Amino acid sequence: MGTKSISDINDIRDKIVNGAEKESAKIYVHMGTCGIASGATEVLESLKKDLKENNIKAAKIIKTGCAGICSKEPLITVAMPGQEPIIYEYMDESKVQRVVREHIISGTVVKDFAFARGMEAEIQERIENKGAPAGQKVLDSSIPGIEEIPFFKLQKQRVMRNRAVIDPNNIEHYIGRDGYQGLIKALSEMSAEDILKTVLDSGIRGRGGAGFPTGLKWKFAAQTENSTKYVLCNADEGDPGAYMDRSVLESDPHSILEGMVIAGKAIGSHKGYVYCRAEYPLAVEILNKAIKTAKKYNLLGENILGTGFDFDIEVYEGAGAFVCGEETALMRSIEGFRGNPRPRPPFPAVAGLKEKPTILNNVETLSNISQIVAKGSDWFKGIGTEKSPGTKVFSITGDINNVGCVEVPIGTKLSSIVNEIGGGMVEGKNFKAAQLGGPSGGCIPLEHLDVEVDYETLQEYGAIMGSGGLIVISDTQSAVDIARFFMQFCQEEACGKCIPGREGTKQMLNILNRIYSGKGRTDDIEKLEELALVIQSTALCALCKTSANPVLSTLRYFRKEYEEAITA
Ligand SMILES: Cc1cc2nc3c(=O)[nH]c(=O)nc-3n(C[C@H](O)[C@H](O)[C@H](O)COP(=O)(O)O)c2cc1C
Repeated sequence: MGTKSISDINDIRDKIVNGAEKESAKIYVHMGTCGIASGATEVLESLKKDLKENNIKAAKIIKTGCAGICSKEPLITVAMPGQEPIIYEYMDESKVQRVVREHIISGTVVKDFAFARGMEAEIQERIENKGAPAGQKVLDSSIPGIEEIPFFKLQKQRVMRNRAVIDPNNIEHYIGRDGYQGLIKALSEMSAEDILKTVLDSGIRGRGGAGFPTGLKWKFAAQTENSTKYVLCNADEGDPGAYMDRSVLESDPHSILEGMVIAGKAIGSHKGYVYCRAEYPLAVEILNKAIKTAKKYNLLGENILGTGFDFDIEVYEGAGAFVCGEETALMRSIEGFRGNPRPRPPFPAVAGLKEKPTILNNVETLSNISQIVAKGSDWFKGIGTEKSPGTKVFSITGDINNVGCVEVPIGTKLSSIVNEIGGGMVEGKNFKAAQLGGPSGGCIPLEHLDVEVDYETLQEYGAIMGSGGLIVISDTQSAVDIARFFMQFCQEEACGKCIPGREGTKQMLNILNRIYSGKGRTDDIEKLEELALVIQSTALCALCKTSANPVLSTLRYFRKEYEEAITA
């Protein structure tokens, strides 16, 4: 059990804020799973070797999570004392040698692969200063400042605010960026009712897909009398094309733990589980380390920071079934059974894990909580829309230039995400549609590209906000094939418990395969629409209930393609 107190945590923060480490050279290597897949481990190793060979002992290497712009990885950021940091792109071993020789030793920026001046964490300051913050020498003004690059300047970092600056395995880095201040406030100054009111007033809606008001969910669980309650974090992230939660888990795990402890106090729970898919081994490792360190710092476990509140968290690894992201299936899975969904009611707030009152929240939802509590509900409502305040993280993939993870105020135009932040279509391809919400979602075609991305508006257009997967599709792809892809996914992932889900998805997939292979029948479109209605109204859980959405949305906007495929 840790023995640290609130003042110990604040001392750690003050020490970091007041710059005990400011004077040393820092080289950030951005090592999310995406960076590692692109070669960041080799970059790190060669950096260590070159620093050693050149006898550079003062430079600190900091391994951070993904820096957001995955398409430019491996990335490193070099921050020499008193100088503007420089982000370098597409790094490899020979480029590392040049950066060490030319930049770190001789003080000259290696322009050939310098991507930007500055760091994302300083962007607001840079916008206000119109360039480098006071005290930072500009090395080469011909390299664009990070605040000038649309990918960065149009984002609003809240959930992702620590992504490229802290080492996720170093709790003091998190504390130094006001980490655990929400928890300190919640445990030392607020009652459970105060926390519930703050979260309710903030208007935050669950980021896992359905957009249910988080405060309301917590209130129901708080009102259910029971000496045992649970707080669960859904880190199952199974939508094709979605990796926002992985990015948060890998870059800022303590923000999730902090949110869970605060939720525990709000509903009267002392135990939490993070249900994380086993296909995220780095996230699992980082989470487990974060839990261990948080316990050492007395930020988890018994008598947290001497406040008398107990809360413990365990990581539960899911074995990779998409349906286990559904809340009732997820709870069955933690109980050790096959992850099948069950009808609701009873809702988890009344009878959830082990039949006890339970709340389940998405990674991004929980990661927002500590800042809401620390800064207040009005701060949270400062951006976003009236009905959906705050930001949303999207992972943008597909035929787009800037593949990456982006955080924008809810209500941002889709065209801005695709064309400005995403940098537009890759050369030679034209925009056909953006697919949002994965297998439960739908397409937004070119004529509606200016739509505002919020829960209600997207639904009007036949798509959903979903958990944040955003796939940009070019006109080289067939609408029938897109629908077929998602239907195949749902068909394979359906648990098989209910007949509409098991048989209905199979029949729809058969029809789609038939149309795609040029053997479609004249009544196939009608049959698809009929089956969609039946599945929507009779399937057991949302996996199959919503499985027809990609078909319906492609029929809505690209019906001609279906008709042409049938009559061809
Ligand atoms: C088939 C299926 C898969 C789901 N997968 C996830 C997931 O991976 N992550 C997630 O947060 N929510 C997922 N959900 C939604 C959850 O059931 C639940 O609504 C959500 O975790 C609640 O958290 P929130 O209120 O913070 O959004 C899924 C739902 C269904 C039907």
